[in-house]
Amino acid sequence: MSTPIVSLREITAETVRVICELEPHEAQSGFVAPNAVSIAQAHFNLAAVFRAIYADEEPVGFIMWRPEDDGASCFLWRFMIDRRHQGKGYGRDAIGLWLEGLPQQGYKLATLSYVPGNGGPHAFYLAQGFRDTGETHANGERVMELAL
Ligand SMILES: CC(C)(COP(=O)(O)OP(=O)(O)OC[C@H]1O[C@@H](n2cnc3c(N)ncnc32)[C@H](O)[C@@H]1OP(=O)(O)O)[C@@H](O)C(=O)NCCC(=O)NCCS
Repeated sequence: MSTPIVSLREITAETVRVICELEPHEAQSGFVAPNAVSIAQAHFNLAAVFRAIYADEEPVGFIMWRPEDDGASCFLWRFMIDRRHQGKGYGRDAIGLWLEGLPQQGYKLATLSYVPGNGGPHAFYLAQGFRDTGETHANGERVMELAL
């Protein structure tokens, strides 16, 4: 069997329910908001962009980003791969696609913040080339960045 091709696709009236049903493992629930909450929040932040992550024709995850105030940095606001589809390289491919598209939108820097903890995404992001800035948000989230 060939390796599935990962793509980022717009969510439609037909697909929104399936995307809202994608979930991480229960032990990972503190690391990312439910997709339904993210999609609701995006409707109050008109600069936010959200996409479903597909592996071939199968919905496997969710990604959402927004510009930082400086206009040159893009903040990875939400990112998850459904628990049944983790560990197959889809997260790496999806981040790669997202990063690849940023320079042509004028971004110079990709940023994110993560909740520290066992089983959290820190090591995953390091492996994708992000570095710790040393900054911690008031809510305890740690900041990482990647120059594009
Ligand atoms: C983090 C997450 C998106 C990774 O997605 P994934 O599809 O399982 O990751 P991949 O299969 O693409 O893994 C790519 C590499 O990262 C490693 N990796 C994945 N998750 C990891 C973790 N939590 N800790 C350490 N390494 C991890 C894999 O072993 C793999 O390594 P390799 O290249 O040496 O084989 C996924 O675990 C997830 O949705 N977590 C819960 C939600 C979350 O934490 N989101 C981030 C919010 S800031």
